[in-house]
Amino acid sequence: MPSYLFPSLPQPFLFPPSPHLPCPSHRTLQFPAGGGAGACAVRAHRPAPCCPSRGRRSGAGAGLWDRGRTQAVGPRRTGAMAAAGLRFDGRVVLVTGAGGGLGRAYALAFAERGASVVVNDLGGDFKGYGKSSSAADKVVDEIRAKGGKAVPNYDSVEDGEKLVKTALEAFGRIDIVVNNAGILRDRSFVRISDEDWDIIHRIHLRGSFLVTRAAWDHMKNQKFGRIIMTSSAAGIYGNFGQANYSAAKLGLLGLSNTIAIEGRKYNIHCNTIAPTAGSRLTQTVMPQDLVDAFKPEYVAPLVVWLCHESCAENGSLFEVGAGWIGKLRWERSLGAIVRGKNQPMTPEAVRDKWEKVCDFDNASKPRTIQESISVLSDALSQIESQGNVSMNSTSSGSVVSSSVDTASIVGRGLGTNVYKYTHLEPILYALGVGMSTKDPDHLKFLFEGSEEFCCLPSFGVIPAQTSMFDGVPSLPGLNIDLARMLHGEQYLELYKPLPTSGELTSVSTVADILDKGSGAVLLIDVNTYCGKDLVCYNQFSLFFIGAGRFGGKRTSEKAKPTAVPPKRPPDAVISDVTTTDQAALYRLSGDWNPLHLDPSFAALGGFEKPILHGLCTFGFAARNVLKQFANNDVNRFKAIKVRFANPVYPGQTLQTEMWKEGNRIHFQTKIKETGELAIAGGYVDMVPALEKPSAGEPLMTKGLQSNLVFEEIGRRVKEMGNELVKKVNAIFQWDITKDGKTAMQWTIDLKNGSGAVYQGPARSSADTTFTLSDEDFMDVVQQKINPQKAFFSGKLKVKGNIMLSQKLEMILKDYAKL
Ligand code: NAI
Repeated sequence: MPSYLFPSLPQPFLFPPSPHLPCPSHRTLQFPAGGGAGACAVRAHRPAPCCPSRGRRSGAGAGLWDRGRTQAVGPRRTGAMAAAGLRFDGRVVLVTGAGGGLGRAYALAFAERGASVVVNDLGGDFKGYGKSSSAADKVVDEIRAKGGKAVPNYDSVEDGEKLVKTALEAFGRIDIVVNNAGILRDRSFVRISDEDWDIIHRIHLRGSFLVTRAAWDHMKNQKFGRIIMTSSAAGIYGNFGQANYSAAKLGLLGLSNTIAIEGRKYNIHCNTIAPTAGSRLTQTVMPQDLVDAFKPEYVAPLVVWLCHESCAENGSLFEVGAGWIGKLRWERSLGAIVRGKNQPMTPEAVRDKWEKVCDFDNASKPRTIQESISVLSDALSQIESQGNVSMNSTSSGSVVSSSVDTASIVGRGLGTNVYKYTHLEPILYALGVGMSTKDPDHLKFLFEGSEEFCCLPSFGVIPAQTSMFDGVPSLPGLNIDLARMLHGEQYLELYKPLPTSGELTSVSTVADILDKGSGAVLLIDVNTYCGKDLVCYNQFSLFFIGAGRFGGKRTSEKAKPTAVPPKRPPDAVISDVTTTDQAALYRLSGDWNPLHLDPSFAALGGFEKPILHGLCTFGFAARNVLKQFANNDVNRFKAIKVRFANPVYPGQTLQTEMWKEGNRIHFQTKIKETGELAIAGGYVDMVPALEKPSAGEPLMTKGLQSNLVFEEIGRRVKEMGNELVKKVNAIFQWDITKDGKTAMQWTIDLKNGSGAVYQGPARSSADTTFTLSDEDFMDVVQQKINPQKAFFSGKLKVKGNIMLSQKLEMILKDYAKL
């Protein structure tokens, strides 16, 4: 059965949705247009220069409202109404029920931070009887006395339109709605009258709906809105005597959850709080010392933060009081399947599985309706495929049977894939990871006519990435669903620079399978060959949600580990602003997953919008390290390892922080806008640079006779490398000297793939290193002196495994004939 969330496509980078969405990026603050025909009472209290639109249009610089959001205070921003930090200048806030208690604290806090506030309050008693203008007026006076801007509104929240009209008439816009007004009609359940049930729902739930609906289109048009719903612990947990109130209060959470989804694309966020504070509502149930201790001022800062334009939180629920804040979420047990194929579902089967249904071990925490429902499609496919009641079912999206024959999986081949390409693909890839002709250094990656035209080393993941997916779903005993896969980690090692065009063959095998409890990790090794030459090796670490608990091991010695970066500040930091079309461009290199382009597909996965490919971020980081520490010399790039920590949205800024420790460059990539890590524990291993000659002493590489010999050995190794690798299985490094100084380094690799001979030190560590002069080398090759003699006479120095030099003699004798 196809997955409910995603079709079965390769998903090289798929993460659960992050609650931390990017901030609504540096929008320009729009000031309200025109003051409108405000109510007389409002006008009377509002000195003309204080109108935000007026101040802005006239350019007058004297008033509080003429200032930018974070600028220093103006002449009027003195005294209590002068808080810096999170500012709301130019914003218009409507707080319902702001004549006392929590609402008053919110109104004062917003005004203090520069907002224009509508102080709404009906002014009745706590049961909702009566009305009066004095409650709202008192708070408005208090704000104005401190130099803030506020107008009163005395309507009931049931007249939602009127409240919003006051905001528009007084200040020309509405940015923030805090639904706070409330009353109590506590009775034990059976004693609740129809009236007591209805009025609680009308004020709390319907009132919040009506006020919010009245503000909605204004928020939508201006692409900004922040809404708070006020719930209660009585709703979340239940409370004796508050059935009407509990029902309405938890109804507000449902309302908020859906508004958060519908408003997201307009930058309208809605969050819910369940506060505890001393007020006239709680006076009846709390001792006076607690009423005094639980100040509304210990709740208001949360509301202020949630309503700030820089706060990305949306659709969340918080408990708050006494200066403490906690976030709540849903937790769901793994559950159990209680029926078999073509069998009725019986209450007895439910009873028998009850313990498992209620067992919260390895519980999941669904955050979206899609995550919630996906378990059902998994359950259906399990039922269809198993035929019988599965007494050991792991359910909850588990996609693995209880008996996994790991021995038959590990080492299994997943497929061979041939990747044919021209110079176009490496160029497209380079553009996809942010290279640009703006940087003259980049030309050699972007222009096939450049003398130094070459592939970025990280391009090595491209031929490898598709070869492994075909075989994954059909591993024995493992009913894996690619749609529930996360790309956890990536390792890439290069044995020679990647050809700029040609045909590469990638062979994939399962290196290991790990049981992480909440999921299974597959380590997949991919060797990529050009002809017989091993060009690069990738290890993909893939996490399959819900596929764990099959009794396997947790760790593997085959896994390439990440590395913790040094504690000191980074040695270098490079920032790249990704473009809005970064994913659209990167996908042309072969990852067609719609998650990275199609908003509705991304929304299905719980993402605010399509996310950037993890391997694209990887490419940005890799090229930054290459430039910073190897001057873009691709020959020096040996290996890279990363762990993908958080998704990136196209348009966000990547900050690659780098630390040099010998030949290892540690790095991590941060998302500048959120401060979150996109890549953690990363490193690049470099081939050391050739020993540099001192000034005026150029390397004498040109006149070296040994070069010819090594080139010849290289040709022979190309022809019969496979055979030699079997016989020798070692890496030899040669340091050739001229006039007592290292003039050239060569490596004969007869250990990896089908062997290789290249200039420079060994890319992985050499088994044996020989140092001798160019002349002595030629003497040895031409058998004028035998290697033992050269060694004992001090002409030949050997480091490492000296015994292996015997094998070398054979090579020199047989293959170095000129
Ligand atoms: P409060 O009684 O001091 O404030 C509520 C305000 O709403 C009052 O000023 C009242 O006049 C006003 N109001 C009532 N009906 C209205 C209507 N139809 N239209 C406009 N205004 C109206 O109470 P408190 O404690 O400040 O409560 C604020 C909100 O927080 C309420 O929604 C309450 O249910 C909720 N809450 C409070 C808790 C607490 O510990 N104080 C606990 C959980 C929830």
